[in-house]
Amino acid sequence: MSDRDASEHTGPNASRPVVGKLDKNDLPEAARIVRLAFGTFIGAPDPETFWADRDYVYGRQRAAHVASFGATLDGKFVGSNFATNWGSVGFLGPLTVRPDVQGQGIAGALLAKTMEQFETWGTRHVGLFTFSDSAKHIALYQKYGFYARFLTAIMSAKAVRQTAAGWLRFSELSQVQREEALQSCRDVAETIYPGLDLSGEISATHSQGLGDIALVEGARGIAAFAVCHYGPRSEAGADTCFVKFGAVRDGGSAERDYLRLLDACEAMAVAAGMSNLLAGANMARHEAYQHLVAREFRSEILGVTMHRQNDPGYCRPGAYIIDDWR
Ligand SMILES: CC(C)(COP(=O)(O)OP(=O)(O)OC[C@H]1O[C@@H](n2cnc3c(N)ncnc32)[C@H](O)[C@@H]1OP(=O)(O)O)[C@@H](O)C(=O)NCCC(=O)NCCS
Repeated sequence: MSDRDASEHTGPNASRPVVGKLDKNDLPEAARIVRLAFGTFIGAPDPETFWADRDYVYGRQRAAHVASFGATLDGKFVGSNFATNWGSVGFLGPLTVRPDVQGQGIAGALLAKTMEQFETWGTRHVGLFTFSDSAKHIALYQKYGFYARFLTAIMSAKAVRQTAAGWLRFSELSQVQREEALQSCRDVAETIYPGLDLSGEISATHSQGLGDIALVEGARGIAAFAVCHYGPRSEAGADTCFVKFGAVRDGGSAERDYLRLLDACEAMAVAAGMSNLLAGANMARHEAYQHLVAREFRSEILGVTMHRQNDPGYCRPGAYIIDDWR
């Protein structure tokens, strides 16, 4: 926490939030506060059971590429935040504070610690997804150097397609083939943004059984891949296959390969018994977004991405990427 923030929220006798690594013992309370904080903010009828069909806490805390932070006030657990490492790219969230202690600088303290983590990692491009219509959220993140850029639409479509051409599942590969696939996925991401590396996300999804990774074959090996979540321990939500991240090798066949990737994700959803396919498109990635619209995906959630130093990163026309940074 910066001195400025501390002095604004604490008099001589007031408590200051203490932030450290999120302890395993605090996971149930952290998960409860995530539900309660978002449920309360969104106005859900029963905030305690909001998002009971998904997990944003246990899976991230266990993942090697995620740093997890918890805040206490007077020794009581009051909030958490997560920093995700995708190589040269990182994003933060979900950031939550127990509703009855909001407005006391706890989010600020968590953010200060989170930004230190990105410094330690040397992350070049850092961003987050937030509520585009909340003055508080935009102002809070701006204090830490983030500026609002384009909307991200989190969109869904019915999954009906049973088959798709030329794709593999990461889970069905041998150990040696998995190592090769991880390298190929790094190569694909590298063509879009130098150093973008989804190895941690792929490994966490596979090792924790949170879903699977679709690998679309091309003329020169893997042309595209998508890390998909489904099931109650994942981030997807009920009856949903969620494309947490998808990317297509840059080049002449990128548009075609993107459509093949969407086909593969849909077939993966159907095979997993999920009727909905959920995918996020930052609107700066115009073509990737437009194809979702053309396929009759409809927006379920609209938010805005905020980027450190207003850096566009890979949110630009021609980048065939699916993600939403939640
Ligand atoms: C968003 C959330 C994490 C903020 O937590 P918090 O502990 O209340 O936040 P803080 O008190 O540390 O900081 C809020 C800051 O916003 C400022 N702020 C609030 N409303 C503002 C406004 N309209 N304009 C400008 N600044 C505003 C406050 O002054 C404070 O800044 P300061 O510390 O410099 O005084 C919390 O409200 C929450 O959990 N919400 C529900 C879940 C959520 O939306 N998470 C974030 C998703 S992206």
